[in-house]
Amino acid sequence: MAPHQRLICASAGLIDGGAGVRFITQRDGRDAAAFVIRYDGKVYGYLNSCAHIPVELDWMEGEFFDKAGLYLICATHGATYEPDTGHCIMGPCKGERLVAAPIEERDGSVYLLERHTA
Ligand code: FES
Repeated sequence: MAPHQRLICASAGLIDGGAGVRFITQRDGRDAAAFVIRYDGKVYGYLNSCAHIPVELDWMEGEFFDKAGLYLICATHGATYEPDTGHCIMGPCKGERLVAAPIEERDGSVYLLERHTA
């Protein structure tokens, strides 16, 4: 297995507490929606699937944060997640967490770290 990096977006495209960037990754051999956001200066990536029911979180494409830019919110039933841990602190899946996607920010770009057989 060799790590492979896939460009997701330019670092400048992710504003702290602002809109995220959606992308498709692989999970268990299938396409899976995912996203990256910036919070407190760092970039985080998660599968775009609520821990409550597997629906996408964003109510409008890329809109994952609450109005204050402090928490990620599921648009369907309001689960509230910490952006830096993916931990659900309020809502129907309190105590559960989002599935992290391996992300690296380097040289002004954001990459997904994928594993594949070479
Ligand atoms: S589906 Fe996300 S809070 Fe219920």
